[in-house]
Amino acid sequence: MQVYQFPEKFFWGSAASGPQTEGRIDGDGKGENIWDYWYQQNPEKFFNQVGPGKTSQVYTKFLEDIQLMKQIGHNSFRTSIQWSRLIPEGTGAINEQAVQFYNEYIDALIESGIEPFINLYHFDMPLKLQEQGGWLNRQTVDAYVEYAKTCFALFGDRVKYWFTHNEPIVPVEGGYLYQFHYPAEVNMHHAVQVAYHEALASAKAIEAYHQMNLGGQIGIILNLTPSYPRDVDNPEDVKASQLADAFFNRSFLDPAIKGEYPEDLVDTLRSLDMLPTIQEGDLAIIKANTIDLLGINYYQPRRVKAKEDFSKVDPKSPMPDDFFDYYEMPNRKMNPYRGWEIYEKGIYDILINVRDNYGNIPCFISENGMGVEGEERFINQNGQIEDDYRIEFIREHLKYVHQAIQEGANCLGYHMWTCMDNWSWTNAYKNRYGFISVDINQDGKRTIKKSGHWFKQVAEKNGFED
Ligand code: BG6
Repeated sequence: MQVYQFPEKFFWGSAASGPQTEGRIDGDGKGENIWDYWYQQNPEKFFNQVGPGKTSQVYTKFLEDIQLMKQIGHNSFRTSIQWSRLIPEGTGAINEQAVQFYNEYIDALIESGIEPFINLYHFDMPLKLQEQGGWLNRQTVDAYVEYAKTCFALFGDRVKYWFTHNEPIVPVEGGYLYQFHYPAEVNMHHAVQVAYHEALASAKAIEAYHQMNLGGQIGIILNLTPSYPRDVDNPEDVKASQLADAFFNRSFLDPAIKGEYPEDLVDTLRSLDMLPTIQEGDLAIIKANTIDLLGINYYQPRRVKAKEDFSKVDPKSPMPDDFFDYYEMPNRKMNPYRGWEIYEKGIYDILINVRDNYGNIPCFISENGMGVEGEERFINQNGQIEDDYRIEFIREHLKYVHQAIQEGANCLGYHMWTCMDNWSWTNAYKNRYGFISVDINQDGKRTIKKSGHWFKQVAEKNGFED
């Protein structure tokens, strides 16, 4: 039996986002975002044609939900403000009902002893801004900074942990390379410009936040997918994995923490003639305004090998994976529902990388979790889902987090994705991730899963034995 004891004041909680949880009700004043629009245009793209309108009804159920968070031992919780709820057109008039909602939500969290972590952008571009190009348009950077300042001014007296983006690489991949977010283009040139504008917007929001002297911290949340070469002794495999790492991890990690872009990424984009348009002074802003705190989302590793299959390479339409092939490791452990490999040690490798190569900046695990389809199979006589697989998933990852901390990683907490089951973009309610189930056929009825009760004990003991 080993004891896994975590540092004092460790953050135990979970993460969610506005667009995946809040839902809309008539007259709430929320404006349209790209998800509302895409669902109206193409409902068939969404699992069982369930759209973003209802989601988990947190807009009306948040007080009940916060009580449930307390019951499962949360001392912290992340969600995001929906830009299109607060500023329905993306710029201009503020929706006062949104101000009231977020004020009540934040106040209720604090009253319950749950530290609010607030993110500003979770894939949810206001439609009006998308019509003018979204992140492709430089003016969106200014609009975002205004939105960020509005949030800091409205809620910054109480919110002490802010994040500029959640997984900024995902709108790049989904919207401009692999077509799983609107506008579902395949265009490397646009992808690079979008990524660049997101990073610039983040730096400018950080600058604004620090200037406002509100006494809190600001960071970014990145999904870090450690790149493992098929064969560490094969230089071509290693090179392929390094480039995959540059495209998908260091493209945001380096500007966020070091204030500069990785050379290998810049060289590769230059060779493709795909460097973004940069204005004078931008790079100095990125250099001067780095994060205070890093949120790390970890779900799966990225295993790659040197390029063998050139059949899909089209020189007119370059893609990151023109430079490597994916590698399926024999006997890998899989989450079959989401199709993602489970590799617990990846979380340790990320934390050690941040310790050794990124100045051991304060960080925390901001997402980690397991989406499972058909969880109603596991309901027991008391109506509770017995999700032992999720308990095992979390426990095994936590062991590696613990080991990294023992070895000096500056990791301050662990947030699971997610609290209440929520709406997962085009996967809608296919895979469930929560500590708490949401029955979308019974007005969103909530029931704590076995993992929620287990997590409460872990949080209370600040660790576990195994
Ligand atoms: C993260 C996101 O990528 O993983 C969440 O921050 C998302 O928004 C979660 O829901 C789970 O992934 P998915 O694709 O199954 O929803």
